[in-house]
Amino acid sequence: MAIERTFSILKPDVTRRNLTGAVNALIESGGLRIVAQKRLQMSRSQAETFYAVHKARPFFGELVETMTSGPVVVQVLEGENAIKKYREILGATDPSKAAEGTIRKKYAVSVGENSAHGSDAPETATVEIAQFFSGNEIVP
Ligand code: CMP
Repeated sequence: MAIERTFSILKPDVTRRNLTGAVNALIESGGLRIVAQKRLQMSRSQAETFYAVHKARPFFGELVETMTSGPVVVQVLEGENAIKKYREILGATDPSKAAEGTIRKKYAVSVGENSAHGSDAPETATVEIAQFFSGNEIVP
């Protein structure tokens, strides 16, 4: 399996509780490298663009509110099979269904405040990375 990249967001519930380092420790001990990272305040339009695929869902408004409620940390993660591996490290979207030891089991507050996002496929990873990082900001 070739080295792959995925996109990650540590959500406002993580920055609010000062858990950035704790979540990063799970990412790194899970075998992924953080090859780009920055903390930023997402604008409403950035959040709407990022989650456009969910526009018709009943939770879309709440999702945009939550993602703009405080700082986030956007990241590019690299490793073998990084997309699938990160989703395993994250655990299920709904923390009540997440496996022991996963980021969401340990730290998520609710399905809306579920601590972190990870890309679901190579095509979405490419688009998501490009929304927040230029090539020279990614340093393997
Ligand atoms: P994420 O991986 O960032 O992708 C879309 C997000 O929508 C998801 O994590 C959840 O935080 C959020 N989400 C999914 N389902 C619901 C729901 N039923 N109610 C509120 N938020 C949800």
